[in-house]
Amino acid sequence: MLARLTALSLVFAFCGSAQTTLRQAAAQRALPIGAAADADEYGQANKLNIPAYATTLSTQFSMLEPENAMKWDVTQPGQNTFNFEPADKLVAFAQANHMVVRGHNLCWHSQLPAWLGPYAQTATPAQMSTVLQNHINTVVGHFQGQVFAWDVVNEPFNDPATGVLPDLRNSIWYNQPGIGQSGTGYIEQALRWAHAADPNALLFINDYNLEAPGAKFNALYAMVKDFVSRGVPINGVGFEMHLTLGSYPSSTGLAQNIQALYALGLQVHITEMDVRLQVDSNGNASAADLQSQAAQYQRIMTVCLQNPGCTAFQVWGVSDGNSWIPGSFPGFGAALPFDVNYQPKPAFNSLISAMQTVTPTLNSANIVNAANYKGGSVAPGELVTIFGANFGPPSLAGAQLDSNGRVASTLSGTQVLFDGTPAPLIYSLAGQVSAVVPYEVAGKTQTVVQYVYNNVQSNTVTVPVVPAVPGIFSQNSLGTGPGSMLNPDNTLNTAQNPIAAGSYVQIFATGAGTIAGGAVDGAPAPGAGAQTLTVTATVNGVNAPILYAGPAPGEVNGVLQVDLTIPSGTPSGPQAVVVLVNGVASQGGVTVAVK
Ligand code: G3I
Repeated sequence: MLARLTALSLVFAFCGSAQTTLRQAAAQRALPIGAAADADEYGQANKLNIPAYATTLSTQFSMLEPENAMKWDVTQPGQNTFNFEPADKLVAFAQANHMVVRGHNLCWHSQLPAWLGPYAQTATPAQMSTVLQNHINTVVGHFQGQVFAWDVVNEPFNDPATGVLPDLRNSIWYNQPGIGQSGTGYIEQALRWAHAADPNALLFINDYNLEAPGAKFNALYAMVKDFVSRGVPINGVGFEMHLTLGSYPSSTGLAQNIQALYALGLQVHITEMDVRLQVDSNGNASAADLQSQAAQYQRIMTVCLQNPGCTAFQVWGVSDGNSWIPGSFPGFGAALPFDVNYQPKPAFNSLISAMQTVTPTLNSANIVNAANYKGGSVAPGELVTIFGANFGPPSLAGAQLDSNGRVASTLSGTQVLFDGTPAPLIYSLAGQVSAVVPYEVAGKTQTVVQYVYNNVQSNTVTVPVVPAVPGIFSQNSLGTGPGSMLNPDNTLNTAQNPIAAGSYVQIFATGAGTIAGGAVDGAPAPGAGAQTLTVTATVNGVNAPILYAGPAPGEVNGVLQVDLTIPSGTPSGPQAVVVLVNGVASQGGVTVAVK
């Protein structure tokens, strides 16, 4: 049941400390929180050897992104001469500190090595295509399995936008001379090459000034909508979020853009947030501006937490002393949550506050059968999984028994209420919790569900109640393939350990509705029993005699056990099994291995 927990949950482990860190607070939101980081690229002293830098990076963040070390001018300083040493140091640091790595970037008009500009002057588009493909293959291949998301193409759009699609800026990759593709073709090609080099990496297009509705966002949206419609490999869009107090996106507009991309199935990462302030000759900003800055950080984090499409939050530098701002905007600085001495600023506190107070969002569509992940309704005693309630335990909390020996309905600060009744909790983790629908909903047509963590309540949603909605547990925890089934000798039924026709197999499911004679929420089934409703089953489409159908002895009430005889004549191999409760069928695609 737990297989759907993301690997990212591994980065959310942390040891407690006096002051809550950004990393600890974000772990309770299932939100990777990152910083742009440097090692010794450009021959500078390795910043990772600065104790305060390294400590701030590893304790305050669960993600890092090389600010420059993976860019062309560092990784391919000479044609076909690659240098990954600085980036490897950053990746090693991340791995040592259980952090994930965002890669940045594979295709950009800026920070190109000295050889590439002159080369592009005389190269043909075919030659440029070879150069770009070779770079992407080599770089993504080198970091395969170490970078969970890439900014594949960086800042491709005109700024300011012209409003004429595709509205792409001139560049050696697009049209000067380009790689032989028209319109957004070079971006599509870069995405396809990146996907081929690491099929598991998430692929993003990253740009600035996408955070508000307008012509630039429209150009981006038109491109990614086309890409999604044609199956071009793309997973999300990076909103850089470089702000100043005078200009920043409205919460409504930012949410609107996140939701528009989410509707396409795309994620949004806040990739490079900073809020530059006017500073004095010592680099200090006014107290008032620092408070205004804090309000902007809180606001952007709040919108991110309120929108499931926003799946990562990153600032562009570890501290004010490592920010690009002073060098690029004379008279400005103090842009990040930590000051030049790595001390938290008001912006740090406002990020923590947002992460500890923004109410988690409950979506009824994310309340699904724990065995087959189908939603839309619930049944009494059904084990359900609720995704997306993004405020919960930073690491997986397994079921606890209360003083009555029942599965507890409060787990690491979480509760799931059905019409106000706390449900037994099978496990809980920020963003994914599994509960047993209380039998009290029996006979109702709907139930009001609410999620609570550390006394912070989600919105409520109303879910239809049905007598039964069966799902069979499968070995892959995805609700497909070989079922979680036992042979008569209690060994797992597998292709290597099949069952003969005529013998019986023990199937485990949930969503079969009420138990004859009643059942106590969260209590272990005392022994053999029976369901109130009629249970039947088929194997390979043939009715299978039921030997037992009732609560699984010793398991929490709600787990259905069905012992059925494999009909004689059933062919050998994986055969489809369906359990029906009052004629309502479980999901297809679950099999039993027959000799
Ligand atoms: O210090 C070295 C110098 O020793 C060396 O000789 C020289 C060779 O080019 O490089 C110098 O390093 C500079 C580096 O920042 C470290 O400070 C580079 O010149 C300079 O180009 C580089 O600027 C980076 C900038 O991108 C380039 O456009 C910034 O660090 C970096 O923060 C910034 O990041 C970009 C993102 O990649 C994309 N989004 C916008 C963001 C801000 O521009």
